[in-house]
Amino acid sequence: MKKLHSLTKNTLKTNLNPNKKRKLSSQIWLKRQLNDIYVHSAKAAGYHSRAAYKLIEIDAKYSILRKGVKVVDVGAAPGGWSQVIANKIFPHVTSKLISVDLLPINEVPYMHGIQGDFTDSKVVNEVKELLDGKANMVLSDMAPNTTGSRSVDHLRIIALVELALQFAFEVLDIDGVFVCKVFQGGTETVLLNEIKKRFKKVDHFKPPASRKESKEIYLVAQGFKG
Ligand SMILES: C[S@@+](CC[C@H](N)C(=O)[O-])C[C@H]1O[C@@H](n2cnc3c(N)ncnc32)[C@H](O)[C@@H]1O
Repeated sequence: MKKLHSLTKNTLKTNLNPNKKRKLSSQIWLKRQLNDIYVHSAKAAGYHSRAAYKLIEIDAKYSILRKGVKVVDVGAAPGGWSQVIANKIFPHVTSKLISVDLLPINEVPYMHGIQGDFTDSKVVNEVKELLDGKANMVLSDMAPNTTGSRSVDHLRIIALVELALQFAFEVLDIDGVFVCKVFQGGTETVLLNEIKKRFKKVDHFKPPASRKESKEIYLVAQGFKG
């Protein structure tokens, strides 16, 4: 951000004072937050997270959100994506938003929030019951906690993508949309081929709001064939 508020500048100075015993990693995190235009915009706009802008940018490119659709938002806490979805799909009689996360999700109008582990079949069944039919969209921004081991982290990420995809295959209506956070270089070949078979159009997109240093990228699959 070019013009930092003077208060923010002072906070930055104080918190980055090398005489203060703050860990280097948290200093770097703090500096990044204070300089991040998306963090400031999210706060000003009342979004629960800066991640909201990633979905805004995905939707600006693909026009996937519209009134009347039923959406499942997985990995939804603290709730930025759910706010963006709710703003776009409500009010409408047929619209529905079910959001799931291990962590508590902040209040979002009309949203059915479920706190639970999406790897738990009881939680998945709860979502299906609430859905009570087909969904038009399954969006997953799930990200596992990193362990420090690249191979373990990679396997965990793939497992979450597979889980979200399996769920999408089960609940999506014809012409449905699946959006999922994956990591560079894109989706695993076997998985990607499977997705390409079941959707008319498959794309990878890194929204500008996704930090350059982050390996995350989004898979956008449109036109579910059933
Ligand atoms: C990047 S954050 C999501 C941010 C969110 N889209 C927003 O706009 O506020 C990733 C989320 O995935 C959730 N997550 C990771 N594994 C999960 C699981 N097995 N079940 C449910 N949520 C999970 C984490 O708890 C975390 O809140």
